[in-house]
Amino acid sequence: MKTLVLGGTGKTGRKVAQRLQARHADVRIGSRTASPAFDWEDPSTWNGALEGIGQVYISYQPDLASPGALEAVSTFTKIASQTGVKKLVLLSGRGEAEAKQCEQVVMGSGLNWTIIRASFFNQNFSESFIVDSILAGYVMLPVGDVREPFIDTDDIADIAVAALTDEKHNGKLYEVTGSKLLTFREAVEEIAEASGREIVYQEITGDEYEAMLTKYQVPANVISLLKYLFIEVLDGRNEYLSNGVEEALGRKPTDFSTFVKKAVQTGVWNQRE
Ligand SMILES: NC(=O)c1ccc[n+]([C@@H]2O[C@H](COP(=O)([O-])OP(=O)(O)OC[C@H]3O[C@@H](n4cnc5c(N)ncnc54)[C@H](OP(=O)(O)O)[C@@H]3O)[C@@H](O)[C@H]2O)c1
Repeated sequence: MKTLVLGGTGKTGRKVAQRLQARHADVRIGSRTASPAFDWEDPSTWNGALEGIGQVYISYQPDLASPGALEAVSTFTKIASQTGVKKLVLLSGRGEAEAKQCEQVVMGSGLNWTIIRASFFNQNFSESFIVDSILAGYVMLPVGDVREPFIDTDDIADIAVAALTDEKHNGKLYEVTGSKLLTFREAVEEIAEASGREIVYQEITGDEYEAMLTKYQVPANVISLLKYLFIEVLDGRNEYLSNGVEEALGRKPTDFSTFVKKAVQTGVWNQRE
C-alpha cells in the first residue's frame, strides 16, 4: 500500500517518511512543495495527492486547534475514503477539545485508524519556534510553574510507522508523553547546562507575549494559536504522564535528557556567527 505522509518534511512527518523508506515502503510526501503538491488551504490539491494512496499519516497544519481544522479534516477524510484509502493515522494534541473533535471524525470514518495524541514535542526546542530564543539567550514565554511531559518526535514516528505497518494498532488511541514532567524553565536550564550556554528563562504575561510576537511581525492567526497553546492548554490540565509509548511499542519513551544530549551533538544550539 502506498502511504501519503502529510507534513512529510516536518518534525514528525520527515521521520515517518524516512523510517518507511528505510523499509522500502512506497511513500509520497504531502506538502505544499512536494510534487504533486498538497495544501491544506487548497482542497483542489487533495485528490491529486491521494491518487493511488492506500493509507495516510495526517499531521495537520498549523494545528488541529486552529480555525477551519475540523472542516478540513472532515472533508479530507471523506475524500480519502472515496479515493480508496484504507487506513488513517492521525497526529493529535493533548488537552485540546478541537483536536478531540478531529479524532472523532477519523474514528467515525469507517476506515482503519490509529490516533497518536501527543504532548508538547521536545523538538519544539530544537527545530521550531523556541530555537531562535534559545540562540538569543532569552526564552520568554507566558508559562510559569506548570509542568509538561515533553515527548520526542522519534517516539511519535516509531508509533506512526508501527501503526502503518501492523494491523494490531488499528482502532487504538495512544496518548503519548515523555517519561518525566518538567517546567519550561527546567527544560531550558537543562539545555543551557548541556550546551554550556547562558540562557535566561523569563515568564511573561499573555499581553507581553502578544506584544513581543507582534513586534516580530508574527501573523495574527499564529499569535492567537500560540497564546491558546501556552495560556489555555498549558493550564495544568496536561500535567500528568501517559503510557502510550509503552502501550504501542513495549518500551519506555525517550528521556528528555537523552534528547538534549543528542541535540547538543548536532550543534543546533551553537551560537551563530
Ligand atoms: N509541536 C507540538 O508540540 C505538538 C504537540 C502535539 C501535536 N502537535 C500537532 O502536530 C501537527 C504538526 O506536525 P509536525 O510538528 O510534525 O509538523 P511541522 O513540523 O509543523 O510541519 C511542517 C510540515 O508541514 C508542511 N506544511 C506547512 N503548511 C502546510 C499546508 N498549508 N498544507 C500542507 N502542508 C503544509 C511543511 O511542508 P511545506 O512547507 O512544503 O508545505 C512541512 O512538511 C499539528 O497538527 C499539531 O497540532 C504538535
